[in-house]
Amino acid sequence: MGPMSWDEAFSDRYAEWSAPMTADVGFYVELARQADGPLVEVAIGNGRVAIPVAQATGRPVIGLDTSPSMLEQARSAAAAAGVHLDLRLGDMRDLALDEPAALIYCPFRALLHLPTWADRRRTFERVAAGLRPGGRFAWNAFVFDHQVAVRLDGAHQTTPVPHSVRYAVGDNRIDITLDDGGTSSLWWATKNEWLGLLDVAGLQLEALYGGFAGEPFGDASREYVVVARR
Ligand SMILES: C[S@@+](CC[C@H](N)C(=O)[O-])C[C@H]1O[C@@H](n2cnc3c(N)ncnc32)[C@H](O)[C@@H]1O
Repeated sequence: MGPMSWDEAFSDRYAEWSAPMTADVGFYVELARQADGPLVEVAIGNGRVAIPVAQATGRPVIGLDTSPSMLEQARSAAAAAGVHLDLRLGDMRDLALDEPAALIYCPFRALLHLPTWADRRRTFERVAAGLRPGGRFAWNAFVFDHQVAVRLDGAHQTTPVPHSVRYAVGDNRIDITLDDGGTSSLWWATKNEWLGLLDVAGLQLEALYGGFAGEPFGDASREYVVVARR
């Protein structure tokens, strides 16, 4: 996929890396409860969200990810939790479902791992093709903030896992490199890019929130929390 966006070595510390992120789980669980049909998480990772979704709904979650080691973590965590995840090794840009989904969701800014507009357009088109009429696509991503990027550029941080950050201005890209090795790159996107992606994919914006409690989105918001409908 062009520049490497997700290094397998990152998965060794992913559980620690993602531990502070808990606010999103209830949001996606609620959307799943409302969905009358198949549930799909793209970039499912270790099942951090999908396992509570499967527990709350009593239904399996189809999960796609390009990382064998993340899928292995999801497999063992699902077994330990006694829930069924239908895990598939694959790229979100090639999403193809046997049965149209009622909900496709993508938590924890994972769409930012896609480097180009074309990668995102393709993903949105595949998502739209995979949804039932009226089906929903939900995701969240950082709001693009140069000030944060500049502040973090070159900085070393100790939590949640020791790492450093580099901001590649010309490529609107952030590289997170763990001290232990493992890199995760994020290509930031603006609100208009997200809205444009919905437009070209033929999806309707249902709600844009500024947070997982349904806060209205405004100039001070720092997270795009988006629900769209086919
Ligand atoms: C930040 S994690 C999110 C995992 C999980 N959704 C969560 O909320 O904890 C990003 C995940 O995206 C996956 N990923 C990166 N690029 C991908 C792609 N093109 N298609 C599918 N998965 C991808 C990585 O392997 C990794 O598991």
